[in-house]
Amino acid sequence: MAAARGEFSSRFGFLMAASGSAVGLGNIWGFPTNAASNGGAAFLFMYLFMAFTLAYPALMAELIIGRHTRSNAVGALRQLSRGPLTKKLANFVGFAGIVTVSLILSFYAIVSGWMLAWLLNSFATMAGMESASTWLTSDGETRNAIFSIIFMLLTVVVISAGVRDGIEKWASRLMPALIIILFMLIVYVLTLEGAMDGLRAYLVPDFSRALQPGLIISALGQAFFSLSLGVGTMLIYGSYLSSKENLPAVGTLVALLDTGIAFLAGLLILPSMYVALANGVEIFDASGALVAGPGLIVAVLPALFETMGSAGVFVALAFFILMTIASLTSSISMLEVPVAYVVETFDTGRRKATLLIGGMVTIICLVIVFNFNSLFDLVVNATTEFSQPLLGLFFAVFVGWVWNRNGVLQEIQKGSPEVEHSFFWKVWPFYIRFVCPIAILAVYIQIIFF
Ligand code: PHE
Repeated sequence: MAAARGEFSSRFGFLMAASGSAVGLGNIWGFPTNAASNGGAAFLFMYLFMAFTLAYPALMAELIIGRHTRSNAVGALRQLSRGPLTKKLANFVGFAGIVTVSLILSFYAIVSGWMLAWLLNSFATMAGMESASTWLTSDGETRNAIFSIIFMLLTVVVISAGVRDGIEKWASRLMPALIIILFMLIVYVLTLEGAMDGLRAYLVPDFSRALQPGLIISALGQAFFSLSLGVGTMLIYGSYLSSKENLPAVGTLVALLDTGIAFLAGLLILPSMYVALANGVEIFDASGALVAGPGLIVAVLPALFETMGSAGVFVALAFFILMTIASLTSSISMLEVPVAYVVETFDTGRRKATLLIGGMVTIICLVIVFNFNSLFDLVVNATTEFSQPLLGLFFAVFVGWVWNRNGVLQEIQKGSPEVEHSFFWKVWPFYIRFVCPIAILAVYIQIIFF
């Protein structure tokens, strides 16, 4: 079985896949609005601090477990277990990760479906198809169901093609496109009236807010969600990484790409909002805070694009292509987690497993679409606020406490023989043993009880 496992063909392929997973809706609309409403650059600094001191060590834990065990989340943690108790914990954490990531995918597909509908709307507008355009941009159960299904189909097609021909091939094409579109949009938006006010709101730090507990928690949560941690995604991508690769270095590059693109997204979204304001679009909600989440993407920005005249259609097209790419390279990394488990545990063919799991996730997704008001927020919060940090904690515990230090060192040494004398090895083992679990626990307790 081991010989049949996929492997990324190059460092570039891995970097595109892993940063593709990390860069998603969370970066492009979550991070910028979080920053704008939390003291601008003060939040940016706190986010970068959290990303490199806590999320990066946790990312390394997942990558190292994956590459060492060459297995899916459940199999990987079981291999590290040393007795019946840790084996039970391994099963629990592995399965909880699989369930969590499947549920994340089920709500992610709904939001990504909106992006697809808006993308198609650009073509409908160009063709002058007004009624199609109205249908595509009005929030309705049928539209949401259809586009979530289409998005799930795209995800299934990529994943059923496998690691090299699916994940690596598509991430390597889409991620450079995403970066180019992002740069083009930033350059264009920065030339418009009002953009500089947005830059100021983003980049002038209000340090009086930097140490507020609420801000620290949001920054850590944002960093964990953004790096796709706690659900076995980075673990499974690590399991497809060549033993020759220098793990601390590739992990650093993934974290840099993720935070870098989040930063760039801020340079697009905040100036865009203030350009919209200069054009008479309302960008603050009733409480005086900047509009965030769905309202930002499907109300404020489209209203802005409309004020741009004929250029607006192309800007809208570019923007929703950007959002769709960001979603798809993340959703494939989510679906890979349960698919790898089924393929490796039951010896099922990849195509069959992908169809089966993809079908199940689509059904859950449709249940949420048709019970949106009661289920959507519940599923988002239960997975991203409750489950993800807790599972992240357990991954850290497995590397820091269950696996022996020498085994960890040997795995890293495969691709970086000098690591024992590096700064990384002086600091990281302590972090993963003490700092990460305690910090995550503190945040977790805050989220659950306060
Ligand atoms: N990191 C992705 C984003 O920022 C979300 C994600 C979470 C992807 C968990 C995979 C696993 O949108």
